Amino acid sequence: MQNQERNQTIWHNCQIATMADGRYNLIEKGVIVTEKGKIRWIGSEADFSYTDYIHYHKCDLEERLVTPGFIDCHTHLVFGGNRSEEFEARLEGVSYTEIAKRGGGIQSTVNATRQASEEGLFHTAKRRIEHLMADGVTTVEIKSGYGLDLESELKMLSVIAQLKKEMPISIHTTFLAAHALPKEFGDDSDRYIDYIIEEVLPKVVEHCDIDALDAFCEHIAFSPAQVERLFIAAKEYQIPIKLHAEQLSSLHGSTLAAKYGALSADHMEYADDSDAKAMAEAGTVAVLLPGAFYMLRETQYPPIEAFKREGVKIALSTDLNPGTSPLLSLRLALNMGCTLFKLTPEETLAGVTYNAAFALGVEKSEGSLEVGKLANFVAWEVTHPAELSYWLGGTLNNRVIYQGIEISNPMNK
Ligand code: NIG
Ligand code: FE
Repeated sequence: MQNQERNQTIWHNCQIATMADGRYNLIEKGVIVTEKGKIRWIGSEADFSYTDYIHYHKCDLEERLVTPGFIDCHTHLVFGGNRSEEFEARLEGVSYTEIAKRGGGIQSTVNATRQASEEGLFHTAKRRIEHLMADGVTTVEIKSGYGLDLESELKMLSVIAQLKKEMPISIHTTFLAAHALPKEFGDDSDRYIDYIIEEVLPKVVEHCDIDALDAFCEHIAFSPAQVERLFIAAKEYQIPIKLHAEQLSSLHGSTLAAKYGALSADHMEYADDSDAKAMAEAGTVAVLLPGAFYMLRETQYPPIEAFKREGVKIALSTDLNPGTSPLLSLRLALNMGCTLFKLTPEETLAGVTYNAAFALGVEKSEGSLEVGKLANFVAWEVTHPAELSYWLGGTLNNRVIYQGIEISNPMNK
């Protein structure tokens, strides 16, 4: 095992979907050489010379299909309580908007999260990450946004920092204070935006390691003008931005996000051609969240044809959260991407690898299997990549390699 410890391994006897440029690019009989957590060589066994790597550890992948490690680029997986009772109410016909207006929705998770201990939040979040890992996730983004005051946002961010330390995957941290207007602000949402900009953001920047700032631009949340103030503040601290936009109505938040060079605009059901054009120009990724579309029984489809026509990259994510998307499987999001959004299996796979890397700004080191990129990959017991979006549930007996080292499946404990 010495060489495995030195992180020099030849992974062989596998088929590889490299996902370079977002395409399968299948290698039938492939070999990957990893060293110090990165890919040193990748290609067909016919072109490979074992003698060049004589001291390397050899690992047989037993004819599995290898893909890049999955990237879940939009989650809210740190939260207290759950909202199954709201789910029941929604099934009886009460809308998400109505529940939010009655003080439920995000606000009810805020109450539960404020009351929860850091240990309690850590434990439940860790378990949720383990579910995602069992499905091949090696990078996950996690948002704050259920604290909505300085102390509770710092508590959430501290839980995320702890998860980052303890979990053997990459974790990206997004600060999402403008998620909903907390009840102590009555209906004064401008004052809340002042509070975030003047009192919360400086402390967050001082004490936490954040990768992006996000907000919820919606009639039940914050207006484009308010979001713009946040974007300006984020720019001053050089924090990359993302936005929940066009989920329930069209406010052109996604066009605003593009104007500020956002990494991504997420949800997008009510986006139109002009939003797609602005996003294409700025290189802003459209992150589609089919779990939320499904749970809310939405009927408005994101403008996928316009995204494709304009060349907007499309990513897919679980949006794992207690309100709109209690979805613990990114593979199921792939299936929904095909069945609900009519994406091809190849497009859905690109949506959780190549394109998702752009949505987090890590495209230089992740998202596809190429020399010099991180050795994050999954070896699945399937014969064709379309199986990844085909099977519903269960496990695909995958082996997960993170930075060149095989990690155990946490759900098998
Ligand atoms: O991505 N849209 C806003 N935020 C979450 C839902 C949060 C919640 O309902 O708790 C989303 O769908
Ligand atoms: Fe979300």
